Amino acid sequence: EKGGYDHFMLKEIYEQPKSIADCLRGRLDAKSGRLVLGGLRDYMNKFQNAERIIITACGTSWHAGLVAEYLFEEFARIPVEVEYASEFRYRNPVIGEKDFVIAISQSGETADTLAAIELAKSKGATIFGVCNVVGSSIPRATHAGSYTHAGPEIGVASTKAFTAQISVLAMMALKLGYQRGTLPENRYVQLLHELEAIPGKVEQALKTNDAIKYIAEEYKDVRNALYLGRGYNFPVALEGALKLKEISYIHAEGYPAAEMKHGPIALIDEEMPVFFIATKDSSYEKVVSNIQEVKARKGKVIAVVTEGDTQVKAIADHVIEIPETHEAFAPLVAVVPLQLLSYHIAVMRGCNVDQPRNLAKSVTVE
Ligand code: M6R
Repeated sequence: EKGGYDHFMLKEIYEQPKSIADCLRGRLDAKSGRLVLGGLRDYMNKFQNAERIIITACGTSWHAGLVAEYLFEEFARIPVEVEYASEFRYRNPVIGEKDFVIAISQSGETADTLAAIELAKSKGATIFGVCNVVGSSIPRATHAGSYTHAGPEIGVASTKAFTAQISVLAMMALKLGYQRGTLPENRYVQLLHELEAIPGKVEQALKTNDAIKYIAEEYKDVRNALYLGRGYNFPVALEGALKLKEISYIHAEGYPAAEMKHGPIALIDEEMPVFFIATKDSSYEKVVSNIQEVKARKGKVIAVVTEGDTQVKAIADHVIEIPETHEAFAPLVAVVPLQLLSYHIAVMRGCNVDQPRNLAKSVTVE
């Protein structure tokens, strides 16, 4: 059942080229400029005319929501708020009929997310679900939704569900931008092609596995780690840190790279590995300066970079090269080496990768 892999998590990481393709299949056809999300059809009007998009979720799904914030604001120019379901439900939030709420959940059973949905529904908002498990509680509680079609995810650490969630949210953002006229047709079509090319790029990113094993060997005994990224890659930093924490029990924190100087920089010494997501995008030069700041304090830098990079390579201790993508879709590719890294470190430390201590696959209690 593990298909020859030692753990479900590794199998699920390797399934991503296929799970993302499955998620896009029948919905996206770049050549004909076609993009259809069945679940959205009846609610497109509400979506297009929403005054605000509120995204609610927990854990990794919340990280996918953060990526979506950047996507929706860039392409569709609608303000977005991303809320931890557990905070949202108890905050007496200001919400009404003009709000379009997107609830993201792999299991479709997370108690806090379900409660946040019920609350938003009672205030008259439209609720759209992005879930993986067909027929679970959240899809039944929402007005409409789109499944992620990633297939069953068994490992407690979410991997392929995360990339499928971002794939659905990316399609929603492109569709919305196009319909609202905030995303001109030529750019829209170009982005459809870029998104369609992602499964192949994830396949390429998986080839970094050997290099990552070597890095894992070197850092498996650290007690702390920092993950830094900016823009679309800031949520990837959070996700990288969460993956390391939950399966290897190493304390890790994710931060927007520029926040480092407001506190975390005090932690940096020769022992501290800092994982950067430093792909070629609009914040690249700024990330390079952040890397220099870490090196100046003798921290160890391991960076995920775009193929052919020279600037980061010259200063980092290790680089992991991934294919070039449009920056909006970079998280789909950049997260893959970080998933592999956490996996290998956890295995080397003798941890129970698929069922880490204290964690359950679906959190049905608040
Ligand atoms: O099933 P959900 O997506 O609603 O679950 C949300 C979180 O419990 C989940 O993402 C959790 O953080 C994972 N263990 C992360 O790998």
